[in-house]
Amino acid sequence: MDKLIVHGGATLRGSINISGSKNASLPILAASLLCDQELIIRRVPDVSDTNYMVQIINSLGGEVERSSGTIRICNKSIIDTAPYDLVRRMRASICVMGPLLARTGRAIVSLPGGCVIGDRPVDLHLKGLEALGATTEFEGGNIIITAPKGGLKGAEVNLRGTHGPTVLGTDNVMMAAVFAEGTTVIESAAAEPEVEDLANFLNAMGAKIEGAGTRRIVIQGITSLGSVEHTVIPDRIEAGTFMAAAAIVGEGVTLHRVCRAHMGAINEIFEVCGHRVEYNTTGDSVTVYRAENPVGAEITTAPYPGYPTDMQAQMTAVFATTPGISVVKDTIFPQRFMHCAEMKRMGADIRVDNGTAIVKGVKELSAAPVMASDLRASAALVLAGLTARGATTISRLYHIDRGYENIDEKLLQLHARVERVKE
Ligand code: EPZ
Repeated sequence: MDKLIVHGGATLRGSINISGSKNASLPILAASLLCDQELIIRRVPDVSDTNYMVQIINSLGGEVERSSGTIRICNKSIIDTAPYDLVRRMRASICVMGPLLARTGRAIVSLPGGCVIGDRPVDLHLKGLEALGATTEFEGGNIIITAPKGGLKGAEVNLRGTHGPTVLGTDNVMMAAVFAEGTTVIESAAAEPEVEDLANFLNAMGAKIEGAGTRRIVIQGITSLGSVEHTVIPDRIEAGTFMAAAAIVGEGVTLHRVCRAHMGAINEIFEVCGHRVEYNTTGDSVTVYRAENPVGAEITTAPYPGYPTDMQAQMTAVFATTPGISVVKDTIFPQRFMHCAEMKRMGADIRVDNGTAIVKGVKELSAAPVMASDLRASAALVLAGLTARGATTISRLYHIDRGYENIDEKLLQLHARVERVKE
């Protein structure tokens, strides 16, 4: 297992390219299972999560060729059973369930395990697919979901859960509805840009989906999909993570290949804290300048277009050395505070209570050996290490490699002093 040593005190400057979105790539790769023609998908980040999804598609019978960020897929004939061990290891693989059910009439997919950010139920996924006429049973840790003899039928379904909409649940129902007879309406749909990118990919293949990116999505059933070439949207969370690095120790850091339209809530908090955020006229490059006198802020995560839960750990790292009191409340994953205990080892002053972190900015953090736990918490520890006195060692780097493409190389390009070492 690798670890990352982060030497504090370097000032970040210069520019990097942001990668394609992991969270758009995963459902788009899964959606390829709906089609028996050749598909080209560009700017898929080379991270372990997308590699897992490629392995799953391979094991389902698909042909996949990857050359750097471009993936060529041809799923001429596929089986209905996803590999138990691979699916268990990556919760997001649940999004093969909808396309498998629609393409083959059945899907056998392992129940995703929970993870450190909290219980990861799939009740809303099943509610949506059952509304289309599917029947569900559970056996040996697998979900076995079967379409009726005459195929799935369009229906109206509300996917709102106690914590709001479900991103991958919306994806699963939207993909299953592509071949369902008649019209499907998803109310309380997730409106994330990654859901919209999936709908754009499906429509380019010939699907008839309207309203993606809003709370109400309407899908007219069709019978088959054709070839397409698609470029995945930029990764707004990777961009936000590097903006946070600039807000902690930057003196003008430029990120290329971003999409301003997806970054509203993220930009706003940096500006509330006093940092300067400047986009170019086309909105695909942004430069962040650290504030002379930054101030704290209050964040409450919410479904898009609200503040993303995937950014709250990174902002906690910014608040750790921002003078004053900041408050971070996660309404989507109320237990998503594993990073706080590790940051406290570095001298951060954080109190976590009932889904809320109260952060009192300290003058300086000090390096400590810390442990990564989930993807975004691990990124937050790297950010804290950039400003800590001394060398912070972050172990279990595989958590970061799940969702950040070449994070050490990108940090080095920005003049951070980091080194990846074998544990
Ligand atoms: C997606 O996960 C993202 N993953 C997550 O990013 C992100 O944190 C999450 O959406 C919320 O924005 C991918 O896109 C691959 P949800 P997803 O279903 O779809 C509850 C990262 O760091 N819920 O939108 O699995 C659930 O418990 C990852 O890149 C149900 O109750 O999340 C949560 O409280 C982490 N029943 C809320 O809804 C269900 O059937 C939102 O979950 C499904 C979800």
